[in-house]
Amino acid sequence: MSRVYVICFALFILGQAAFARPLPRVVTDFNKDWKFYLGDNAQAEEAQFNDAQWRRLTLPHDWSIEGKFDEKNPAKPEGGGLPTGIGWYRKTFVLPADAKDRHVFIEFDGVYRNSEVWINGHSLGKRPNGYISFRYELTPYLKPGKQPNILAVRVDNSAQPNSRWYSGSGIYRNVRLVTTSKIAVDQWGTFVTTPKVDNSSAAVRVSTNVRNTTGKPQQVSVVATIYDAAGKQVAEQINPSLTLRDTLTTVTQGLALAQPKLWSVEQPYLYKVVTTIKSKQGVEDRYETPLGIRYFGFDAQKGFSLNGKTMRILGVCQHHDLGALGAAVNVRAMERQLEILRAMGCNAIRTAHNPPAPELLDLCDRMGFLVLDEAFDMWQKKKNGQDYHVDFKQWHRRDLEDQVRRDRNHPSVFMWSIGNEIREQFDSTGTHLTKELTAIVKRLDATRPVTSALTEQEPDKNFMSQAGVLDVLSFNYKHEGYPELPKRFPNQIFLATETAAAFETRGHYDLPSDSIRVWPKDGKTKLTNGNPDFTASSYDNARPYWGATHEAAWGAIKKNPHLTGLFVWSGFDYLGEPLPYPWPARSSYFGLIDLAGFPKDAYYLYQSEWSSKPVLHILPHWNWSAGQTVDVWAYYNNADEVELFLNGKSLGVKKKGNDDLHVMWRVPYAPGTLQAVSRKGGQTVLKRTISTAGRPAKIELTADRNALKADGRDLAFVTVRVLDDKGNLIPNADNLVNFTTSGPASIAGVDNGYQASLEPFKANYRKTYNGMCLAILQTQEKGGNIKLTATAEGLAPASITLQSKP
Ligand code: GAL
Repeated sequence: MSRVYVICFALFILGQAAFARPLPRVVTDFNKDWKFYLGDNAQAEEAQFNDAQWRRLTLPHDWSIEGKFDEKNPAKPEGGGLPTGIGWYRKTFVLPADAKDRHVFIEFDGVYRNSEVWINGHSLGKRPNGYISFRYELTPYLKPGKQPNILAVRVDNSAQPNSRWYSGSGIYRNVRLVTTSKIAVDQWGTFVTTPKVDNSSAAVRVSTNVRNTTGKPQQVSVVATIYDAAGKQVAEQINPSLTLRDTLTTVTQGLALAQPKLWSVEQPYLYKVVTTIKSKQGVEDRYETPLGIRYFGFDAQKGFSLNGKTMRILGVCQHHDLGALGAAVNVRAMERQLEILRAMGCNAIRTAHNPPAPELLDLCDRMGFLVLDEAFDMWQKKKNGQDYHVDFKQWHRRDLEDQVRRDRNHPSVFMWSIGNEIREQFDSTGTHLTKELTAIVKRLDATRPVTSALTEQEPDKNFMSQAGVLDVLSFNYKHEGYPELPKRFPNQIFLATETAAAFETRGHYDLPSDSIRVWPKDGKTKLTNGNPDFTASSYDNARPYWGATHEAAWGAIKKNPHLTGLFVWSGFDYLGEPLPYPWPARSSYFGLIDLAGFPKDAYYLYQSEWSSKPVLHILPHWNWSAGQTVDVWAYYNNADEVELFLNGKSLGVKKKGNDDLHVMWRVPYAPGTLQAVSRKGGQTVLKRTISTAGRPAKIELTADRNALKADGRDLAFVTVRVLDDKGNLIPNADNLVNFTTSGPASIAGVDNGYQASLEPFKANYRKTYNGMCLAILQTQEKGGNIKLTATAEGLAPASITLQSKP
């Protein structure tokens, strides 16, 4: 909380006390000053337990990412090969002055997994699902005045394996303390919809659940006010006299907006709705809901349209980890991922395969991404022995309801997915559960379609599609079947929820580029028959038997317009699922962008197809053995042709044919400089050069941003490159780089994107991989100059200075 805010707030409370006025809700960041213990302890929930020896930390926190890689860790390489287990968190706090005679809640955005929370020794409840947001009421157990209150949280991620990817462990999302008056908006208590939108006007419907726990009927007024992005009031609806008879009353209000500015992926215009509840004592609550005004539709013939404009959904699937930061939520880290994806031309995210952090949805609202908000990776039938199938029966209704209630006001969320590759699709239980889950969603939100990521394209074998309730039939992989879909499922809407799953290691190339490595070949082949150094080729020529190269997958989407869009598997590499390799591989090869955030070559394939800005990207590097034949590729757009030169001599002009997505020259290697020139109508559009690198000479540092916020959370992502004396990247450099910092910042993580590195992510050193690594700096709560210095044996060091300002 800023100082000004604290002072205003204190004055406000004084004012309130003097006139015995009610106080609207107060939301306090509750991430600081927690104590943590890795391990179990039979007494740690007790109020008098002594946690003096425990480690002090700030949430969000993921203890797995701090641990050591080990093949024997129970999460297995599939889960990232990091430790899991049991951990405890405790926080001692004095009740804020504003909490007297009010309701006090603790809100968790996500705890992985099986959490139990106690206040002053009273158990408040358990929540198995590691991705769901939840809150508990603390009021009856709190101690007033200066007395200490103790929250204790036990997190049990010991039953393993429970995930097909890295989950993280702990209170890895944000925590808040919320106090409200006895008349207040309920948890996720608003639902704002726009039943009618066109360019000249929008009807806005605000439905609000109001809680009255005073024990008697209350007379209130409910005011819904819409503010535009500049904070100007643009509409208001006052319901002056409402009687709240029961504990929960739903108030519905209709507003009209003239000339609304629509929310779109290009211009994500945001309004907000403020709901104010006033009793005769004063303002009882003020509650904000985001509002983006847009309309969209699916049509079996015309496809997907947003605000009446036909467009393709150009998306990627994203797991929740943030690379070296693990699962611990950081808004800047998520924003950076989205910025990199946006620069590729991506306009949609599928939250594989679980509810995301709420801040991801805020970012997507603000940055203009469509979100396919997914609930589950399994229902009753397991994918791993200890996964959510154990809790499904008891919890699925509650978890799904909470997800929809929490997320249904985000304009970015355009569709719900009730599951990914659910095993029940193969028998009749799938029909019944598809109906049940779809009905749960529709009851809470009838404005968005429901889908589920299916694999089975034969209607009589797909018991989930047979339910007849999925608004959109979404399929993973099997692009060969796309042309048949409209015949098999007449008049349906289709989406490709997963495509490609091709393997790439940044900066590694297996020649010849046109021989496709398929491994594993089938479900029986062992995951060993690849390269001895656990690399996969970045020529888009490696894939598993169920997947496709990026070109084959995207080419199929282009040719089948009845597919309304796609979600590439995957946007970023993620921890865990290190197919096609066994240990020490421990993170995925599927990303268009590596774990450190460095784009692989296939990123530029999509950029050349999806984005309107001119692209010319050439690969591979230019350090080979004399006489070797090397395939040089170019991805390009906005041009008719590309000419390639080696040491000034033309190797010919190439043009993409109708179905081509790149051009290629087969070049006898000679050291020197390759130059590609793209041209349109004879005019040069872009030029790119790659030169043979000499000996490693120096380090280069570049930061994603030079000005940071001194808030203890903001991050700078500093790219480290090893260069020769002329500034060429050394394409195979693996120098050990040591980092030191001065000023108000610390190193939050290091990485190099190599999928089989067992170096720790929390360290002040990293080997470069194929010439590059990354250091992530995190600010502190005081401003000043931050200096990062990188040194390595035999190389000229480098440093970079960034400004951190309050
Ligand atoms: C899909 C699955 C994803 C991921 C992917 C790898 O079948 O839905 O979670 O495992 O395969 O290709």
